Amino acid sequence: MVSSAITKEETIKPHGGELINRQVEGEEREILIQEAKHFPKLILNPWSLSDLELIAIGGFSPLTGFLGKKDYISVVENLRLDNGLVWSIPITLPVTKEEADKLTIGSNIALYGEDNHLYGVLNLEEKYTYDKQQEAEKVYGTTDDNHPGVKNVYDKGEIYLAGPIQLVDRPKHDEFTEFHLDPKETRTLFKDLGWKTVVGFQTRNPVHRAHEYIQKIALESVDGLLLNPLVGETKSDDISAKIRMESYQVILKHYYPEERTRLVIYPAAMRYAGPRESILHALVRKNYGCTHFIVGRDHAGVGDYYGTYEAQELISEYEDELDINIFKFEHAFFCTVCDNMTTAKTCPHDKSNHVHLSGTKVREKLRNGEQLPKEFSRPEVADVLIKGLRQD
Ligand code: ADX
Repeated sequence: MVSSAITKEETIKPHGGELINRQVEGEEREILIQEAKHFPKLILNPWSLSDLELIAIGGFSPLTGFLGKKDYISVVENLRLDNGLVWSIPITLPVTKEEADKLTIGSNIALYGEDNHLYGVLNLEEKYTYDKQQEAEKVYGTTDDNHPGVKNVYDKGEIYLAGPIQLVDRPKHDEFTEFHLDPKETRTLFKDLGWKTVVGFQTRNPVHRAHEYIQKIALESVDGLLLNPLVGETKSDDISAKIRMESYQVILKHYYPEERTRLVIYPAAMRYAGPRESILHALVRKNYGCTHFIVGRDHAGVGDYYGTYEAQELISEYEDELDINIFKFEHAFFCTVCDNMTTAKTCPHDKSNHVHLSGTKVREKLRNGEQLPKEFSRPEVADVLIKGLRQD
């Protein structure tokens, strides 16, 4: 189908109906930059900066700023914004009490990065305290501070600032310029490519054979695949975004049809909130223009905090309201008797024939410069990872 056959009406609607754009440009931007010199200054950490960016570019549509207290409580308690729209993870701007005390409600705050560059402005509507234990329990399902998302809740400032934001400059993703597209741009891209149906794939790991298997099964049913790796903050033992991006390029080059796949970064921080985060991931990919989204085993999970299919169970409860189709996959592995990738749903053979490798085992092998079994990883990907981890 040619792109001209796709009308605007046929593209999937962003969450809440409108793609948010809070980026200021041209003269308005110049004026705001001048004015911001007189605003109180706040330095955002990389996590908050990535949230600012995602709000501004519409990835977090319908949010136009950091959540106020009503929305925050509603999201934490009910997985909904105060207006009833499904939203599973609170997007908040934490500061210390000392920082908050210096800021006046109703004023504009200049938002800087740790590089001392002005990125945006917050119109401060609210400052409020919140219950950390409650946020940990409800959003992450645990109060254990060994959970990286929970640890972040405990470590961050005790006051949330709220209000609409404006973005004057994009955080740079210099290493990934070629793969740096906004939701508005991916929507245009899909239209130009003639893709009416697009499956989005979230990942924070190098693509292994199970990922490839489920992506390609999904791709059999849709027009295109958006490989959309998260490149924001991750926990320290995850493989760096730079190395992963190299591995994605190499696997796409050797094993995927060029005309049916696109690699675009997702500049968010990883929460490791499992079930709740699978809903956020799906909604964001809808905003990027995907019509389908993959949720496999233990999506966005960490350690043993969530059951293998807990994310699928939770997202199923909200599926009717998400307006994006969810492809759910069983745990996939290589079976030496089938001589193929498979799942318990399709493989009749005993478990002893199944090739499994834990993330820890994989990292250990790679750091020792050992090849991974071909049943687990494409050799080209393993080569990139071995080389990358040696230099890391
Ligand atoms: S995640 O934290 O971004 O979810 P990861 O990059 O490992 O981690 O997974 C990306 C997607 O692939 C998720 O939807 C996850 O559920 C799915 N997935 C990962 N490994 C498997 C597997 N062996 N079988 C089925 N799905 C998987």
